[in-house]
Amino acid sequence: MHREHVLSTKELSRDDIETVLDRAADIAHSGTDRSRYADTILALLFFEPSTRTKMSFDTAMKRLGGTTIDMGSVESSSVTKGESLADTIRVIEGYADAIVLRHPSEGAAKMASEFADVPIINAGDGAGQHPTQTLLDLHTIRENVGFDDLSVGIMGDLKYGRTVHSLAHALTKIDARQHFISPESLRLPRSVRFDLHEDGANVREHTDLDDVLSTLDVLYVTRIQRERFPDENEYREVAGQYRITEDALEDANDDLIVMHPLPRVDEIAPGVDTTTHARYFEQAHNGVPVRMALLDLLLQGETQ
Ligand code: NCD
Repeated sequence: MHREHVLSTKELSRDDIETVLDRAADIAHSGTDRSRYADTILALLFFEPSTRTKMSFDTAMKRLGGTTIDMGSVESSSVTKGESLADTIRVIEGYADAIVLRHPSEGAAKMASEFADVPIINAGDGAGQHPTQTLLDLHTIRENVGFDDLSVGIMGDLKYGRTVHSLAHALTKIDARQHFISPESLRLPRSVRFDLHEDGANVREHTDLDDVLSTLDVLYVTRIQRERFPDENEYREVAGQYRITEDALEDANDDLIVMHPLPRVDEIAPGVDTTTHARYFEQAHNGVPVRMALLDLLLQGETQ
């Protein structure tokens, strides 16, 4: 894989995806030579809350043998003095070998990449994309059910969920059947539907999970993205409508895996955690080897 930045899954080929996942499997199995990254510094710039993404990038860089620097909270940074994202990036690129950026504005990572000579990794840009989440999602899918003849249901907030948008583009690259399940008001955005159609994706939309549940290998559940709703009343109308319980999974295939990028609010009842279907904690743990693999592939040219 030869890439400068990781901004969107739209630009990743199936080959790129498989290169990262193969490397992740390799790293999980045999580790890496930590001395290669002794001088490497990764900057973590998070303008929105994060637990998993930030901590797993931090862990990944440290497990590779490097170190991380962290802007800390937005409130404690110069952003509160009115500094632009472009200036922040121009400064941080002088401190670090790569920058992981999460920002509330769609397109922020792309914009940042225009000001940086070091790789920018998009860790979520508003309701846009979250490509590294997709890589760990695909790793979880490949390890559990494989990519052949794959049928995936994606349920919840398809409108604002950036993990959904990234995953949909990547599933198209691996020729999976995609079933989108949501209330009418949270359908996939028109622009994403358009791109999927252009790419020849195999896509169906549903409002009722029961219409497809028994045909699925993977059910990917997402949180309603409350923070992105312009109106709290609109959020209340849809909150709690799509909830997975043990009962709801009665007609599922025995081998169905249930995934969720986390955090969950109430979309998956705790009773599901102990069923054979649950994979969301394993999925979160896969963030470390997958992000190690991605960093290794992006940075190796600079440290060898
Ligand atoms: C997701 C995100 O930030 O988009 N979280 C994550 O990175 N695992 C999903 C979410 O916040 O619902």
